[in-house]
Amino acid sequence: MLAGTAALAVAPLLPYRAALAGAEAEVLKAAVAQVQIAPEGYPATEVWGYGGVVPSTEIRLRQGGRLQRRLVNTLPEPTTVHWHGIRLDNAMDGVPGVTQEAVPPGGEFAYAFDLPDAGTYWYHSHNQSYEQVARGLHGPLIVEEADAPDVDRDQVIVLDDFRLDPETGQIAGFANMMDFSHGGRLGNIVVTNGRFNHSMTAKHKERLRLRLINAANAKIFELALEGLEGWIVALDGMPLDAPEPISETFLLAPAQRADLIVDVTADVGAQAHLVRFERDEAFSQVMFEVRGEASTNRRDAPLPLPPNPRMEVTGLEDALTSRLLMEGGAMRGFQSASMDGRPVGFQEAAQAMNFWAFNGTIGMPDEPLFIAEQGRTVRVAMQNDTMFPHAMHLHGHHFREVLPGGGLGPLRDTLLVLGDESREIAFVAHTPGEWVFHCHMLTHAASGMMTRFRVT
Ligand code: C2O
Ligand code: CU
Repeated sequence: MLAGTAALAVAPLLPYRAALAGAEAEVLKAAVAQVQIAPEGYPATEVWGYGGVVPSTEIRLRQGGRLQRRLVNTLPEPTTVHWHGIRLDNAMDGVPGVTQEAVPPGGEFAYAFDLPDAGTYWYHSHNQSYEQVARGLHGPLIVEEADAPDVDRDQVIVLDDFRLDPETGQIAGFANMMDFSHGGRLGNIVVTNGRFNHSMTAKHKERLRLRLINAANAKIFELALEGLEGWIVALDGMPLDAPEPISETFLLAPAQRADLIVDVTADVGAQAHLVRFERDEAFSQVMFEVRGEASTNRRDAPLPLPPNPRMEVTGLEDALTSRLLMEGGAMRGFQSASMDGRPVGFQEAAQAMNFWAFNGTIGMPDEPLFIAEQGRTVRVAMQNDTMFPHAMHLHGHHFREVLPGGGLGPLRDTLLVLGDESREIAFVAHTPGEWVFHCHMLTHAASGMMTRFRVT
């Protein structure tokens, strides 16, 4: 009897140890790699990617689960990972100098946090991001609903552009004054899931969930469907109250996501496309070769995705109010702005590669834009006095736009504010910490368009 008990007590230890080892955080290795981005016949391109691929390894987990990754930096520069759009502990937000120190070459950092919300998110470097994200340090982060919608296939589509040197096929240099002072770094090759002229197969009548992610530095994608019919069901990870039929073109600004549910209407043997418009010319962003027929008949409009918990934006009447004046850039500049604590004119700022100011300050201010108690509703009125569009991203929180008529827009984490526009957002400051708020045209963020707020 005794001997048997002892044996039982010992035996489970081995599998238990193995289970513990398995529960150790998976490695997310930031590494230099060679990939074929340019069309065949051109040389391969040296990129930086998590796991050595571009776009980086997809991370896919269940809502309510926990993400654990050990970042291992094998790059020649310090780096961090930001989990864009995820509601998480401030210490895990990956902003160097604000929530953590940048991880030096050869260093590591353990990221671990719970995932309260389902949706389409992404992760990317937040150090020198105008360069590191452009080199490929970004990947999809998918949090699946407990009850997935009724679709035949779930397809992630990362939209991106690269600027390659036409001779060498290598990523072009970053010290380009135009990129900082105008619309941002635009590529000369547009890719889908890291490939030029991307194509995949689909079946007639197949129902697809397309998770679009704009990982480009500055490119605003204008998109439409051809041979596909469907709905937008979520924006920036958050379900819309009602699926919105897609009848014309729609925009996807840098860092924004859109979840589509589409039916393939193109006939067998034909092609369907996610179409991209540029200056009224249409290009195929994704080509679907239609082969064979799905067994199901065309279904009804999809149901809304289940809303994420505790996301309501209430208390607008007695909200804390803040305003953000956006100035600078080519053609307009600014009279004077504070740079490193002293006033400078536009010319002097430009010499230091700084072109933009928020509320008269270039780059991260000494004092936060506002301090909100946890649970407080905050309204931020943004006034874009520049000639350029800016994709304004709030860290750690989703907001709703306060529409001119008084209504509220969909939950988002990134809002496209066009030149000379004024837009207002409202959100509930739910998680304590120091959070940044910046333009996601990444060269703009690097040359002035960065601020922060504090939740206490
Ligand atoms: Cu997607 Cu501050 O970043
Ligand atoms: Cu901008």
